[in-house]
Amino acid sequence: MPQDPSVAGFYDRLAPDYHLIFPDWDASMARQGRALDALIRTHRAAPHTAEALDVLDCSCGIGTQAIPLARHGHRVTATDISPAAVARAAREASARGTRLSTTAVADMRSLPFADARFDVVVCADNSLPHLLTEEDVHRALAEMRRVLRPTGLLILSTRPYDEIRRDRPTSTPPQLGPAAPHARTVTFQLWHWHDDGERYDLEHFQLVPEEVREGSVAGAPEEAEGEDWDVRVRRTTYWALTQRQLTAFATAAGFTEPTWHTPEETGFFQPVLTAGAPRQEPRHLTV
Ligand SMILES: C[S@@+](CC[C@H](N)C(=O)[O-])C[C@H]1O[C@@H](n2cnc3c(N)ncnc32)[C@H](O)[C@@H]1O
Repeated sequence: MPQDPSVAGFYDRLAPDYHLIFPDWDASMARQGRALDALIRTHRAAPHTAEALDVLDCSCGIGTQAIPLARHGHRVTATDISPAAVARAAREASARGTRLSTTAVADMRSLPFADARFDVVVCADNSLPHLLTEEDVHRALAEMRRVLRPTGLLILSTRPYDEIRRDRPTSTPPQLGPAAPHARTVTFQLWHWHDDGERYDLEHFQLVPEEVREGSVAGAPEEAEGEDWDVRVRRTTYWALTQRQLTAFATAAGFTEPTWHTPEETGFFQPVLTAGAPRQEPRHLTV
């Protein structure tokens, strides 16, 4: 498949540090889980019940959405293309006494599940834009639709790429990691736009405080000078799909009523696309 082969490697390397992007990962998980659960309850057939649903998170990463959705009572299957991320999602869930029904390494373009297996498919926090061609985006959305039951719900979130494509920024603001137990980690990205104006290569920087400088001896003068920083840089590529493009892809893959929701409406930190899975066969791709 033509996807950048470094995507799994990028997230395998990032998996141990992924939580450092957030000032408080558990608090972010709780917020994101609340917002997604509310969307599920609003858009599914039985919104006012506490019914447990079969949810697939097909780009679960270290579990930022999968873990809190399981805590909301859903039966969550968590998959991702990065083996290290999936392994960490399973560990983090059990460390919190939460059960993920299944965890597995899987490519969203070829999901290892039977047709109509899930009530909800989640693909959150800018995962789909890792796919760089029309063919791959179509394939992934067609797979998400295939594994959804009739009346099932797709929930997909991306960066606000309509605004971003207008300005084409070349960096992101620094994000500060947890305040304890050490000094804060700093995460930021440098973006290098392709000539097409739609795709960009990103360099993901994390500045991680070193507790003790390598080679220093406790009490030696260099330790008294303060902490040093470990700089970790990882690279990958994104396709900054606009809401219009993604809506067209979702429709072409057979979804109905594709609807974008703002963060103000949902409480989720990114724009969210919801769409329904009907019974009919998907139509041909026309973007
Ligand atoms: C920005 S991270 C978000 C992860 C998680 N949803 C979260 O919010 O913490 C994007 C995720 O998409 C996954 N991903 C990228 N391409 C994929 C593919 N083809 N199939 C499955 N997962 C993929 C990456 O491995 C990564 O875990």
